[in-house]
Amino acid sequence: MKKKITVIPGDGIGPEVIKSAIKVLEAVASKFNHEFTFQYAKLGGVAIDEEGTPLPQSTIDLCKNSDGVLLGAVGGPKWDTLPGHMRPEKGLLGIRKALNLYANLRPVTAHNSLLDASTLKKEVVAGVDLMIVRELTGGLYFGQPQERRQEPDGEAVVDTLYYKKSEIERIMKQAFELARLRRKKVTSVDKANVLESSRLWREVAEAVGSEYPDVQLEHMLVDNAAMQLIRNPKQFDVVVTENMFGDILSDEASMLTGSLGMLPSASIGGEGPGLYEPIHGSAPDIAGKNLANPLATILSVAMMLRYSFQLSEEADTIETAVTKVLEAGYRTGDIALNGEQVLKTEEMTEKVIDNIQLAVTN
Ligand code: IPM
Ligand code: MN
Repeated sequence: MKKKITVIPGDGIGPEVIKSAIKVLEAVASKFNHEFTFQYAKLGGVAIDEEGTPLPQSTIDLCKNSDGVLLGAVGGPKWDTLPGHMRPEKGLLGIRKALNLYANLRPVTAHNSLLDASTLKKEVVAGVDLMIVRELTGGLYFGQPQERRQEPDGEAVVDTLYYKKSEIERIMKQAFELARLRRKKVTSVDKANVLESSRLWREVAEAVGSEYPDVQLEHMLVDNAAMQLIRNPKQFDVVVTENMFGDILSDEASMLTGSLGMLPSASIGGEGPGLYEPIHGSAPDIAGKNLANPLATILSVAMMLRYSFQLSEEADTIETAVTKVLEAGYRTGDIALNGEQVLKTEEMTEKVIDNIQLAVTN
């Protein structure tokens, strides 16, 4: 199989974890006889510095003209004081919107060998396997107006939570379809006791749900969901929610796995390529030091192979390699316990590649 992949290293630890992911893709290509070619694009802080905008048109064009997009991370203190429309994060939001990637899949799986790395009790996190389906191109992040105002009695500010019914319908369908492939349960998270947008969200969940009688649907208020996620996370299978709620809940859920450095994501739904990125940020404090955990990005590559290229055996091979590396006790700093040996980014990557090369395939 031949595939063209747009690579967006971005800022901070982005370039390092991307380098790891590319090495893994190359190992998969040679093992399974695929041909992956890579074209590089700029986004975020590096694009602001070099092209004067967080999302150059050339980046959008490159992405559209490829089979999949792999992204590291964007942002950093250097650009934190820029006005909202010039921030690195605007580039990320812009590319999600430009590619119409309305469905963000964030799987949260507790690895048995990492249970001690979680701040929660072992018996709470053992066996956790849930999928957050975050709406990604609407809601509070994109609603207009979003602005500061001078009013007669002083300064004011507005953000807008806006959804078209059709936008809620399509994300619900994604959630129910995914649930069918899993344990057939959807938890729709909203704030229907307060927000009108959530009341429509709930109605649509019911309507779409009625087309999936084999899937169980429950509604949960977002504050309760935040609590349930650490009280009894095993109750969840697929969690579907608004953009900002999903942003917050997915960082919280990452702690079930021990580290934000473990969580991959897939952004899909558009007519063109999907975008794959770790959910962690650019971690400026450890950037350039070969200390970052590359596993979230490596697992994002597995998601690309599975969801964009339908290469499920290859995806399984990467995921199994990661599990084996963890079982063998290899750790980066973020998941190491006191006294455990800590591997560098590149060393961890080599361990994963060794396991891919050794894997027995059909
Ligand atoms: C994420 C990040 C982004 C988001 C930021 C960097 C804009 O936190 O992917 O979760 O809020 O969507
Ligand atoms: Mn986030």
